[in-house]
Amino acid sequence: MRATGKVILLRLLFLALCISLLPIQAPAADKLEKGQNLTDADGDTLVSAGGSGTFTLGFFSPGASTKRYLGIWFSVSNHTVYWVANRDQPLPDRSGMLVFNDAATLVLLDGSRRTVWSSYFSGGPSAATAQLLESGNLVVRNGSSDAYRWQSFDHPSDTLLPGMKLGKILWAKSELQLTSWRSADDPSPGDYRRTLETKGLPELVLWYRDVKAYRTGPWNGLIFNGVEEASTYADMYPLHVSGLTDRSTEITYGYTAVPGAPLTRVVVNYTGVAERLVWKADTGEWIPYFTRAARDNTCEAYAKCGSFGLCNPEAASSSFCGCVPGFSPDSPSAWRMKQYAGGCRRDAGLECGGGTTTDHFKVVPRVKLPDTQNATVDLDVATLDECSAKCLANCSCLAYAAADIRGGGNRSGCVMWTDAIVDLRLIDSKQDLFLRLSKSEFVADGHGRKSKGFPTALVVAPVASIVTLLLVVFVFWWRWKCRILGAIPQNPSMAVPLLNLATIKHGTGNFSESNIIGQGGFGIVYKGQLPQGKMIAVKRLKQAALTRKGKKDFAREVEVMAGLRHGSLVRLLAYCNEGKERILVYEYMENKSLNVYIFGTPSLRASLNWAKRLEIIHGIAHGVAYLHGGSGKSVIHRDLKPGNILLDDEWNAKVADFGTAKLFAVDQMAPDQTVVVSPGYAAPEYERQGEMTLKCDVYSFGVILLETLSGQRNGSMQRLLLHAWGLWEQSKTVELLDTSIALPLPESEPELLSGLKRCIQIGLLCVQEMPSDRPTMSAIVALLTSTTSQIDRPGRPAMDSTAVHSSHELESGLSSPSTDDLT
Ligand SMILES: *[C@@H]1O[C@H](CO)[C@@H](O)[C@H](O)[C@H]1NC(C)=O
Ligand SMILES: *[C@@H]1O[C@H](CO)[C@@H](O)[C@H](O)[C@H]1NC(C)=O
Ligand SMILES: *[C@@H]1O[C@H](CO)[C@@H](O)[C@H](O)[C@H]1NC(C)=O
Ligand SMILES: *[C@@H]1O[C@H](CO)[C@@H](O)[C@H](O)[C@H]1NC(C)=O
Ligand SMILES: *[C@@H]1O[C@H](CO)[C@@H](O)[C@H](O)[C@H]1NC(C)=O
Ligand SMILES: *[C@@H]1O[C@H](CO)[C@@H](O)[C@H](O)[C@H]1NC(C)=O
Ligand SMILES: *[C@@H]1O[C@H](CO)[C@@H](O)[C@H](O)[C@H]1NC(C)=O
Repeated sequence: MRATGKVILLRLLFLALCISLLPIQAPAADKLEKGQNLTDADGDTLVSAGGSGTFTLGFFSPGASTKRYLGIWFSVSNHTVYWVANRDQPLPDRSGMLVFNDAATLVLLDGSRRTVWSSYFSGGPSAATAQLLESGNLVVRNGSSDAYRWQSFDHPSDTLLPGMKLGKILWAKSELQLTSWRSADDPSPGDYRRTLETKGLPELVLWYRDVKAYRTGPWNGLIFNGVEEASTYADMYPLHVSGLTDRSTEITYGYTAVPGAPLTRVVVNYTGVAERLVWKADTGEWIPYFTRAARDNTCEAYAKCGSFGLCNPEAASSSFCGCVPGFSPDSPSAWRMKQYAGGCRRDAGLECGGGTTTDHFKVVPRVKLPDTQNATVDLDVATLDECSAKCLANCSCLAYAAADIRGGGNRSGCVMWTDAIVDLRLIDSKQDLFLRLSKSEFVADGHGRKSKGFPTALVVAPVASIVTLLLVVFVFWWRWKCRILGAIPQNPSMAVPLLNLATIKHGTGNFSESNIIGQGGFGIVYKGQLPQGKMIAVKRLKQAALTRKGKKDFAREVEVMAGLRHGSLVRLLAYCNEGKERILVYEYMENKSLNVYIFGTPSLRASLNWAKRLEIIHGIAHGVAYLHGGSGKSVIHRDLKPGNILLDDEWNAKVADFGTAKLFAVDQMAPDQTVVVSPGYAAPEYERQGEMTLKCDVYSFGVILLETLSGQRNGSMQRLLLHAWGLWEQSKTVELLDTSIALPLPESEPELLSGLKRCIQIGLLCVQEMPSDRPTMSAIVALLTSTTSQIDRPGRPAMDSTAVHSSHELESGLSSPSTDDLT
């Protein structure tokens, strides 16, 4: 014992001796007290305390520059400097020193002891300590007093860390904003800034000098309306805007990080990119989670299509520009020259005055709302109807929208535009814009429908650009006909992040066999986990499938999925195409696919009661309707079947599989790569002539609907359709319902029973021989949602004549282990 004690003592002495002899006094402390100094020549640094020493303050030279700056960087990534003190006062050499001056202000002195930077604060000389906190905040205070006299978080450079704020501090009449560096070698303020604009609804704006280059869309209570992907990381990095209702002290935006979340930063790059990056500790790199560039070749470019323009990211042939409904290009000739800045003008004048109006509102669905700078915001308006009435009553109100989407329509608030509609774009947001139009616009529409099915048509100005319209239609037709979406994009959408192979390997136990949850001809699906703990489904293309077609399918799936966000579609979280690997990362679906239950054992069948089955059918209908037009593009799924309907932990149905391997396909064998639609689900016109339209999906949906309610497979002989039709003719459709689940009693659950009957009738309408006899998906959604609306009487469904004789087979065997799910 004593011997060890002596040894330790000796070592300590020796250490102390060494330290006193060393010229470099490396404090590695987190504090600098009055009387102490931090000198560049000695390589002094402060390292934040509190466990991991995440941040380091010290002197550095950026890039190729030899000038010296005082800055703070991430200890794990010492070139990632997020704060610079003397941004535009560089030191020429290593003679700088950080110290408290006689006035108790923290100052940076140059070689001749002149002050080049100071943490000036008003309020008396009582500071004595500077400390680098584990949050990354450098604070100056009086001893251990809690009050900060000065903090670096009040003086952001180009980076926003968790706990920092952007916005207006009203009592101090100051503004917190990010300013880019001038270049990689020069941290002095550059041309790009990011601010929180607080007139109207708060929103983040990226500025190039004094011109708006990009805006996020207004804060809607949860996220910024044009940054849908924020909802994917908002649980890890919760966002908040404060001071919205009480605008007396400050209106600021900030975010925090939940404990254990990876390091993150939001930076305005000197290249004009605003991005959120997340640190991948295992690979030692920053991964972009959110990226928006101030470039003028995308819909992100501010006001790209002029006032009353509508930017559609899918309409590349018209440089994305169109007009909102009821408007046409102000100068058709300029538009033909792709000069869109002149915007659009109203086709038919409004009729409003003297307390009356004949105008109506048209919904422009799923948009990034226009600039709210000059809009009127009333957060006390309780409902959207009230907002509508308010707008209608004021002749200068041209459009309105909900200001707050929390509470699903309750307490929605109201934002109303009275001058131009600027920077409106289609995006898969949850928000709609209601646009005031002359009543004549509605007569022309004829159906009294709120929106047209195919928004691409809606954004193309009717008179001026018939050529463009034909071109767009042709391009769409050509794209689908050829089933190509171009070469594999390097990064088809900023919204879908690239994930590196190492992370995926780590998350799936190096593609461990025990993690396999599905398998198909093109690939294998693994269960996995992201470093943050989120469960994922990882679809890995087989090397054998990496033919040109396989790569195209992969590219198609990424590209199609990138633009699609809907609660009833499985979400693509990330993808990877490193080397020969092609991997898609999806949200994990706890309850596998629909076929497992509806064709499963009696106990599996029983886990989906009638109410759940109806909900699932509604979910599928919503998802497919969204695919067919709700996103601003028109996507044909082409392979709808129960194996491609996945169920999450709350049994919500989500449509999956947009091109390659099958998720959770438990009963699959090697697929025939040339057949797209699975037999039994393929519409007759597709089977005969290979004609693929949206109505083919409607047909497949009808089959899925009937299978879900009957628990029987249709099969390539169309047995189920025949059976259902027979029962319909005898008014006995109730007998179609799966007998392994108790029938709802007419006395106690009359609505459920009539809902099921309605549903079967809708299903039969979907499987009509003539595509034109089948309703559109949006009409189906409307029919399913209503309990009273009239449903057309179906005719005899499409049937192969050879199938007619086999209708009796149904009576006996329900779920034969068939090969129907082959693709
Ligand atoms: C800085 O501090 C060190 C040790 O505390 C001291 O030796 C040195 O003289 C100081 N330098 C100046 C310029 O005050
Ligand atoms: C930055 O970190 C790397 C690797 O840890 C190290 O080699 C390098 O010397 C560090 N640079 C500075 C300026 O601290
Ligand atoms: C600051 O420190 C000085 C002396 O150390 C002390 O007299 C004064 O009361 C302190 N002020 C505050 C606000 O803590
Ligand atoms: C800015 O972008 C360039 C190019 O993508 C990159 O090399 C650089 O590290 C970025 N700078 C910051 C501060 O993120
Ligand atoms: C708001 O009004 C100002 C002043 O009239 C005008 O310069 C600006 O372009 C308007 N902004 C928008 C988005 O309409
Ligand atoms: C109509 O709205 C404008 C802009 O919000 C406002 O200035 C005006 O007072 C309103 N008019 C009436 C009659 O409420
Ligand atoms: C919305 O309001 C209705 C009626 O006041 C209420 O029943 C419903 O629960 C509310 N919904 C939410 C999400 O607050």
